[in-house]
Amino acid sequence: MTWQNPFPDMWIPSDPPGSDPLALTRSALARVVEEVLGEHPAVAVQATAVSGPPARVLVEAAEGADLLVVGSRGRGGFAGVMLGSVSLHCVSHSPCPVVVVRGAAKSV
Ligand SMILES: Nc1ncnc2c1ncn2[C@@H]1O[C@H](COP(=O)(O)OP(=O)(O)OP(=O)(O)O)[C@@H](O)[C@H]1O
Ligand SMILES: [Mg+2]
Repeated sequence: MTWQNPFPDMWIPSDPPGSDPLALTRSALARVVEEVLGEHPAVAVQATAVSGPPARVLVEAAEGADLLVVGSRGRGGFAGVMLGSVSLHCVSHSPCPVVVVRGAAKSV
């Protein structure tokens, strides 16, 4: 999971004040892994929180991998668009095969 300041040229107060965004990313990721794998603790997972643009970080992380798996949409984007910009970048630039997982259609 990556974290990125959307406005790198601006100072933006952290929320909650004084918090470390990368530490918040790390704990959000830990919650997701726990939620998904709670009943399957034998599955080996290396959870990594990184600061940087998600499209670039994922493509770099895919170097030497067998498969890159992403969702079709994330938390942002425009309703009605089939692929978000990160998943689109991954299918266009990944050095390994990519699987895009679609969830339930969002209501528009
Ligand atoms: N910060 C991130 N860290 C890790 N994976 C991410 C991150 N952002 C996106 N992804 C991956 O990319 C997939 C598609 O998300 P994407 O960001 O492309 O869609 P979106 O948020 O709906 O649109 P956009 O970001 O273009 O506004 C996600 O399901 C996830 O697998
Ligand atoms: Mg997004």
